[in-house]
Amino acid sequence: MPGVVIVGAQWGDEGKGKITDLLAEKAAVIVRFQGGNNAGHTIVRDGEEFKFHLIPSGILHAEKTSVIGNGVVVDPRVLLGEIDGLKRAGVSVANLRLSANAHLIMPYHVLLDTAGETKLGKNSIGTTRRGIGPAYADKALRLGIRVQDLLDEKILRTKIRAALEPKQQALRELSVQRRKLRKEAGEDGRSGAGTEAAQTPDPRLDVHAMVEEHVSFGHRLEPHIADTARLCWDALDSGKTVIFEGAQAALLDLDHGTYPFVTSSNPIAGAATVGAGVGPADIDEVWGIAKAYATRVGAGPFPTELEDEIGERIVEQGHEFGTTTGRRRRAGWMDLVALRYAVRLNRMDALAVTKLDVLRGIGTLRVAVRYRSKEGAVLDSFPYHQSILHSATPEYVELPGFDEDIGGARKESDLPAAAREYLRYIAEFIGIPVRLVGVGPDRDQVVWLEA
Ligand code: IMP
Repeated sequence: MPGVVIVGAQWGDEGKGKITDLLAEKAAVIVRFQGGNNAGHTIVRDGEEFKFHLIPSGILHAEKTSVIGNGVVVDPRVLLGEIDGLKRAGVSVANLRLSANAHLIMPYHVLLDTAGETKLGKNSIGTTRRGIGPAYADKALRLGIRVQDLLDEKILRTKIRAALEPKQQALRELSVQRRKLRKEAGEDGRSGAGTEAAQTPDPRLDVHAMVEEHVSFGHRLEPHIADTARLCWDALDSGKTVIFEGAQAALLDLDHGTYPFVTSSNPIAGAATVGAGVGPADIDEVWGIAKAYATRVGAGPFPTELEDEIGERIVEQGHEFGTTTGRRRRAGWMDLVALRYAVRLNRMDALAVTKLDVLRGIGTLRVAVRYRSKEGAVLDSFPYHQSILHSATPEYVELPGFDEDIGGARKESDLPAAAREYLRYIAEFIGIPVRLVGVGPDRDQVVWLEA
C-alpha cells in the first residue's frame, strides 16, 4: 500500500509515534503534514527514550527519508535543537528533508500565543504556547515567513518588518506588561515609565538581531531544505510506500473538532494531501490511533472525563503528563461516540489501540455508547452543536476488566479473554478492525490482530 496516513483518533497523545515507527519499517518516506512543536512523540528503542516535537518519528530508520512537509509550522530553533540532540545520540539526520514552503514560527508568534492566552483568562484554550496559532494565522494572512526565506537576507528582512507592523499594538501591550511584571518582581526598581530602561524594547523583537539569527538558522538548515512534494511524488510513482504522519488528532481539528478548543491546523487524513502536496488518490490506507481510554490536555469539552479515583489511577498508570509541556492530562473512559465520528471523518481503514496495559486492575471497564442531552434527548452521534456537547452526559456499557499483566503478550491468544472482548466490542461498534494493540511502552510490546 504506497500511501498510508496515520492520524490521532481522539484528542492527541494516542501514541502515534510508536505506531508510525513500527509501520515505517515498510516505508521509504515518512512525512509530517501539519502541526508544529506542539506535538510530542516519545519512542522507546532498546530501552533508550527519544522525544521528538518536530522531526518525524521515522528518523530512527537511517535509510529512510524523513520529511517535514509544507503544512507544518517550524520553529527553527527547536528543529535545530532536535537535530543536534539526535546527532549527539548517534542518530544520522542526513536523510531529513524540510519543505522550502513550510512556514516558520517566529519569536513574536510565541509571545503572541502566550499574550493571547493570558488575555483570555479563564476562557483560555490551554494552548501549548509554542506560537502555533499565530503562525498559522500569519500564513492565512499572507504575512508568514517561509523556510525558503531564510536563504535570502533581503527578503527575510522585508518580510519580518511587514509581519511585525500590524502587530505593533499587541506587542506594545506586551512590553508594558513585561515592564510591569519586572517592576513587581523588583527586578528593576528604577525602571518606572519614562526612564531609559523602561523604554528598552524586548530584545526578542529586535528586527536586526532576528534577521541575523534567522540567516544563521538558514545556513544550518540549508542542506535539509528541499522540494518535498516532488520527493513524495517520486517515491509514490515508483511504488514505494510513503507514510503521512499526523500530529494532534481528529477532535482537535480546526474545522471538525471542538472549536475553539482545537489546534490551528487540520490533523485529519484529508489534510495529508494539502500538507504534503499529494492528491487524494495517492492515499491508499488510513490508520487511526486511539488509546484504550481517553485523555485530553487543555480546555474544552470531554464528555467521558473522570474526576475521581479511577481517573487518577489512569493518569498515574499511564504516565499521562505531556511530552511537550509536562502538563497533567485529563483522563476518562473510551468514548465510542467520538471515536466513531473520528473513524468516519478520516474514513479510517484500521485502528491501533495503544496503552491497553494501563487498564489492568482498574475493575469493570466502561465505554460510552451514546450521549444524553440535558433535555433528555438520546444522541447516538457526535453533536455538531458545541453547547449540546458541553452539557451532554455519556451513557456507558460495562465490560469486564482484567488483572493480568499483559506486557508480555505478543499474539492475540496471549491476551486475557476480557481484554480481547474489550477490543472486539470497540471494533464492532466503530465498524473497522482493530489491527494493532499496544501492551507496554517498548517498541516490541505490541500485538498484531487478524483483520
Ligand atoms: P496549540 O496547538 O498549542 O495552539 O493548542 C491548542 C489545543 O490543542 C490545546 O488544547 C492543546 O493542549 C492541544 N494540543 C496541541 N498539540 C497537542 C498534542 O500534541 N497533544 C495533545 N493536545 C495537543
